[in-house]
Amino acid sequence: MLSVAIDLSFEDWREKARGLLQAGIKPSEVLWESEGEAGLFGGGNAIIPPPVHAPPKVPKEFVSLAHTVSHHSSPDRWGLLYEVLWRMTQGGEASLLKRSTDPTVARLARMRKEIARDVHKMHAFVRFKKTGEDPESGREQFMAWFEPDHRIMPLTAKFFQKRFTGMDWAIFTPTGSASWDGRELRLGPGVEKVEVPEEELDELWRGYYRSIFNPARLKVKAMQAEMPKKYWKNLPESDLIESLVSESRFRVDGMREEAPRPANAGGKNPYLKHLRDLDRCDDTVVLQPDDHVGRPLDKLRELAACCQACPLHGSATGTVMGEGPTDADIMIVGEQPGDQEDLVGRPFVGPAGQLLDRFLAEAGIDRSQCYLTNAVKHFKFVPKGKHRLHQSPSVDEVSRCKPWLVGELLQVNPRVLILLGATAARSLIGPGFKITRQRGVVEGTWLADRVVATVHPSYLLRLQNHSDREEEERAFLQDLKAAVTP
Ligand code: URA
Repeated sequence: MLSVAIDLSFEDWREKARGLLQAGIKPSEVLWESEGEAGLFGGGNAIIPPPVHAPPKVPKEFVSLAHTVSHHSSPDRWGLLYEVLWRMTQGGEASLLKRSTDPTVARLARMRKEIARDVHKMHAFVRFKKTGEDPESGREQFMAWFEPDHRIMPLTAKFFQKRFTGMDWAIFTPTGSASWDGRELRLGPGVEKVEVPEEELDELWRGYYRSIFNPARLKVKAMQAEMPKKYWKNLPESDLIESLVSESRFRVDGMREEAPRPANAGGKNPYLKHLRDLDRCDDTVVLQPDDHVGRPLDKLRELAACCQACPLHGSATGTVMGEGPTDADIMIVGEQPGDQEDLVGRPFVGPAGQLLDRFLAEAGIDRSQCYLTNAVKHFKFVPKGKHRLHQSPSVDEVSRCKPWLVGELLQVNPRVLILLGATAARSLIGPGFKITRQRGVVEGTWLADRVVATVHPSYLLRLQNHSDREEEERAFLQDLKAAVTP
């Protein structure tokens, strides 16, 4: 048995795993040890024998999976990763990662999902306190203490740099730290517990919380239950909730007034063949992104049925959430339900959906194995005679709906994510994303191993010119094929 110590970095594991693989050392012959982690055997770092095999060819998806999972706190992560690496490169199981039912692959997928959730919670719940000012520059300095479940400081530091670029800050966790001084982002070791100085600037956080508090949030109990106590105790805003709640009924009523209604509705929407979900809801719904983390899809669906976060709920028949297997390998995101989807309550059943079905089949993708959903969950339209004409959702509507989409994404945790049209791509990749210039495989996102952004099938339906349409259809098919071709 070879005892191999890892300094907790992905790079260290990768180098050692490569050496072991080339030396022909089987997974069962290696004992992985993480420096400084509990449960160690204290063995030395063995010398890895010289290579007998050529360097392995490793799929990109594995590298991305291994990088994420290397931040998990479970001590067996290194061994599980090495087992998969060995089986893919030496055991004749090159497409092992596609076998989501394999117990080791499934375990790694779960670990990746746990990391995604932890990262999401850290983004949402870190709270800074002012500690003083830099005597030279006069810049105010802030500090935060946070206890994530996993070693995720390196995965989250850039987010804080971008969000709080104008202030000096340091974040400490038991397993890593990060600091930013306006010029350089530095990563450091973990610390035991930082004594946070008196709460001089809790007001800062109150202001921040107030500005992001959504008036449609009334289910305070649900919110508190979802936010684990260990996060809750660090939040200065918790005593603000009561007053915000009492204000919010008034603010939600105001939003309802603004909701568009069909012109001839006379109080009753003539298009509503189905009982509106809303009529069965005696409450409105939590709406912060973090409220959705970790909720199973059926719970998300139940909550979303009552969502009143934007005016669109006022005229749509109901909320149309996604459908498909919870553990789908491929997730497809469109813009919003259309007329038929709104009435039936399922995504992609109308003309655009039928066209999509045709292309999916041509690309060799089985729709029934995909999770299909939309960036916006309510149909936006203007009534015209007997018809309801589609309208694009606004940036605000897309962002108010995003928590539902992120909730679905974190649950399904797909390997491949296909974004149809600018709304879906902008919601998940970023507001500046341009389908015309950036379509195809999109690298470097946390969303899935493979992200492909392409045009929406309704765009193809709108093309009048035969040869334009043929050309665009070819490109669309190519994008779908690229999504599933490693
Ligand atoms: N267009 C979409 O983007 N989604 C649907 O569900 C239907 C049409």
